[in-house]
Amino acid sequence: MEVSQEPQLPNYMKDDHVSQETENLIASLPSEKDFMGYGLYNYKGCWYYPNTLQAVLDVQKHFKPRDTDIILASLPKGGTTWLKSLVFSVVHREKYQENQQIHPLLSQNPHDLVPFLELELYANSQTPDLTKFPSPMIFSTHMHLQALREATTKASSPCKIVYVCRGIKDTFVSGWHYRNMLHRSKMGQATFELMFDAYCRGVLLYGPYWEHVLSYWNGSLEDKENFLFMRYEEIIEEPRVQIKRLAEFLNCPFTEEEEENGSVEEILKLCSLRNLSNLEVNKKGTTRIGIDTQVFFRKGEVGDWKNHLTPHMAKTFDEIVEHRLRGSGLIFQ
Ligand code: A3P
Repeated sequence: MEVSQEPQLPNYMKDDHVSQETENLIASLPSEKDFMGYGLYNYKGCWYYPNTLQAVLDVQKHFKPRDTDIILASLPKGGTTWLKSLVFSVVHREKYQENQQIHPLLSQNPHDLVPFLELELYANSQTPDLTKFPSPMIFSTHMHLQALREATTKASSPCKIVYVCRGIKDTFVSGWHYRNMLHRSKMGQATFELMFDAYCRGVLLYGPYWEHVLSYWNGSLEDKENFLFMRYEEIIEEPRVQIKRLAEFLNCPFTEEEEENGSVEEILKLCSLRNLSNLEVNKKGTTRIGIDTQVFFRKGEVGDWKNHLTPHMAKTFDEIVEHRLRGSGLIFQ
């Protein structure tokens, strides 16, 4: 039985920060309801809630990355929190080498250390003064690459972009649990099936899934120097290899001495799900955008979909992804 409670809506799902111009635009866009009945609008091939679309337009208009900035991109539930922790720790490792006790990850949620462009910095019609930010600054986004490019082409030279993705089945299941936790309600099987149907049609915030992963996959093929394409499953399987790959890409490779001193292992331990989820800040707090910090941490397992999807659902997802990615060289097992 579904537990009915007033759902807790994060700002990005609302429609109260939309200019008249964007309202007019929205009125002309294809629209659908998400699986809970909230309106999604398709702008240039991607689905957004009204406030998110407004913020994306504002990012495109005002954000101009510096060439030292690093942008982390992902779909929600694709490994964003982990990537933020890893990149922050890799890039700033020298500062905390002597005294790990003061490491910011111990007292702040990764989402507060690496802010989202459209969900935080440019949300609610804000225009931050980025000149005040330290360099290098790490930003994050869930925007599709084509949408992000409308902002990054304003830069004088390209900045580094790291993308992380995860197989569709685990991303979907993780998203399901996230929505349950976010709305503080236990939604039932009927809603699960509605969400599955919407996912298969690509109708989800920042979806379709396949368009998102393909945009960054193609970007990484075109420009290896500035794009790194990572997979959640590969970081789980070979964390040392992947974190070293990440550090090399960011032009701060681990030295031999660091490797001997266990610096790689130290960062992996610090950023592990077990460590982060047991910190007080991630058990009780809320992020700056008002989301409970604990909802970002759950199991972190590859293949948890087997506990939730029927064989038919799994097969449907596999077939859709195989069909949509055919010919791209991008393959999910
Ligand atoms: P599960 O729901 O499968 O457990 P995002 O960060 O993009 O919101 O994705 C959330 C998923 O990443 C969740 O997956 C969460 O448990 C997992 N996750 C969060 N922090 C992690 C970490 N430090 N290491 C590994 N996985 C992590």
